[in-house]
Amino acid sequence: MPRGTTGLGQRAAHLWAALWLCVPCGVSSQSVAERFQATCQSCHGEGGVSAMALTPSLAGQPSFYAVTQLFLFREGRRSNAAMSAMAKGMSDSDLRAFSDHIGKLPPPAAPTLDGLLAQRMRRGATLVQEHRCASCHGDDFSGGKQVARLANQREDYLLQTLTEFQSGKRLGYTTAMNETLVGISAEGLQDIAYYLSNAPRAKP
Ligand code: HEC
Ligand code: HEC
Repeated sequence: MPRGTTGLGQRAAHLWAALWLCVPCGVSSQSVAERFQATCQSCHGEGGVSAMALTPSLAGQPSFYAVTQLFLFREGRRSNAAMSAMAKGMSDSDLRAFSDHIGKLPPPAAPTLDGLLAQRMRRGATLVQEHRCASCHGDDFSGGKQVARLANQREDYLLQTLTEFQSGKRLGYTTAMNETLVGISAEGLQDIAYYLSNAPRAKP
């Protein structure tokens, strides 16, 4: 890559470097924090807080959840072109090292209450209560063990992944998520994504 590339060129260069760095992941002498910075941040954002459309924040995800997802990507049981390519060359110890690092990153901050639509928050909260999401994801939606953190995740990513669970395109490690969303309307999923991306500080 020539010097002084454009933003887009730089992103391509990041991905290119990321893929190459990861082929021999196990023999890298870089620390996991350096590898995360070099390989993952170009998409998942600084400190694992994403500013990229449809790309989840990783910061604060329970490490067991993260390792399970990396495993699913590597084994082709969760499909996404970028992530399948990333995970393909990783050894088990790479999966664990990245996941331990992810689990220690401070989670994204709750957004301010200004401008939130109280009605949408209430509708989202009601659905989340009716479907007992907190019974697995925790009262503050911070997740734990193999269950994902949802609080303050990007809204666009939440909506996409909920839609994919509901249609069966995304299969979890278990069928818990596919079953739990049965019967919720498309608008309902939108309200849930809105609520969770603004939770937990923003109570309706
Ligand atoms: C080219 C962009 C890109 C790069 C580089 C990248 N990711 Fe991802 N990652 C994504 C996208 C997009 C998703 C969401 C996939 C989906 O919708 O199923 C994702 C999902 C994930 C998930 C699942 C998160 C969740 O909430 O379920 C983990 C864990 C993850 N990535 C870890 C990593 C790690 C570790 C690296 C570096 C080794 C990395 N990613 C590099 C784009 C990227
Ligand atoms: C029976 C336990 C259980 C219940 C109830 C449950 N979940 Fe989950 N959820 C899980 C598990 C386990 C995962 C990880 C899926 C996997 O195995 O890949 C998950 C994953 C997710 C994800 C993906 C997060 C990410 O970063 O990709 C979202 C979003 C989600 N759940 C939302 C919800 C919502 C909204 C509700 C209520 C309507 C709900 N969950 C109810 C167990 C549950």
